[in-house]
Amino acid sequence: MKSIRELSLSGKRVLLRADFNVPMDEQGRITDDIRIRMVLPTIDYILEQQGRLVICTHMGRPGGKVVPEFSLAPVARHLQEVLGRPVELAPDCVGEAVEAMIDSLQPGGVILLENLRFHKAETSNDAEFSAKLARLADVYVNDAFAASHRAHASIVGVAERVEEKAAGFLLQKEVDFYHKAMDEPVRPLVALVGGAKVSSKLAALENMLNKVDRMIIGGAMANTFLKSRGVDVGASKVEEDLLETARQFIGKAEAKGVKIFLPVDFVVAESFSPDAITKNVTCQDVPQKWMALDIGPASTILFKEALQDARTIVWNGPMGAFEMDAFARGTMALCQAVASSHALSITGGGDSNAAVKKAGEEKNISYMSTGGGAFLEMMEGKSLPGVDVLG
Ligand code: 3PG
Repeated sequence: MKSIRELSLSGKRVLLRADFNVPMDEQGRITDDIRIRMVLPTIDYILEQQGRLVICTHMGRPGGKVVPEFSLAPVARHLQEVLGRPVELAPDCVGEAVEAMIDSLQPGGVILLENLRFHKAETSNDAEFSAKLARLADVYVNDAFAASHRAHASIVGVAERVEEKAAGFLLQKEVDFYHKAMDEPVRPLVALVGGAKVSSKLAALENMLNKVDRMIIGGAMANTFLKSRGVDVGASKVEEDLLETARQFIGKAEAKGVKIFLPVDFVVAESFSPDAITKNVTCQDVPQKWMALDIGPASTILFKEALQDARTIVWNGPMGAFEMDAFARGTMALCQAVASSHALSITGGGDSNAAVKKAGEEKNISYMSTGGGAFLEMMEGKSLPGVDVLG
């Protein structure tokens, strides 16, 4: 993958694909701008090199129509503030008016194109639309790691049509950190996996089994593994259709010598609400109609011990319903354990990153990936179309 440093940018129209798909509140205020801040080194570099910067991104899933609440106007305003220089929002992302705007863009100037997904052709990787995007660029830079698992026009089609192309600093960093952790890890390499469903992470779990020394499984997905071993988990969430798969998975782990850690106790409640009455029980003692919503204190000790001598930790998914304080203790404790360890630690996915933020441990994690789906696909061992196309 070529680095942006290998391109000559001065005076050129640089089309930068970013992922500014940031969360916003009802008033259109950006509630977390990490995805914007992480692209700033690339933006600053392009501007220092006197590139004429044209940024494109998607926002949400407007389904190929112009949907005003998915306009990038708030992002343009925010970017302008962060950069301390004007950022002009184009009325669209392709077409004559946009081309004219870009023609008069000076070196060091910035234009943000309107939401790519206002066109259906973006997600279908349409050839004509890709060619229209390519007309806007002398040079193409992809720094949208979090969207690089999508074979969309702005990620793949345009890159196939612009000769001078490279990865931005964020994309490079994401790929490098992941590679360092999963392909050349300092061992022991421990995976900490949680979240609601085995089904959504099965491919990632299977792939990691070939790489890790230990795997800690928490969150609701642990219920399915426990039930597959004959534990009655009461009214806890279980994927009944995956019991056999879960059983086989544990067999495979044993055969490979990978130690799997499952919860030994839970915080349970009768209802999924912040003021529900809770109690701590062992996994074997979940009362009927009660459900596991967090790992219990004994599991926390067990999991922390499994992390203690880790030299590399990859974490995806919370240990419980951490968004409610009543069920956050397990996730918070594990987060602190990851943060205070001497391991190279990588987290990915919206929930894990939100948990790290809630615990105030952002500075103590070696790398927090900006990717959700893209991070998971890397965990599955897949290559990303947006990375492949850069050569
Ligand atoms: C994300 O938020 O994970 C990326 O921006 C990709 O968004 P998508 O899942 O709508 O393609």
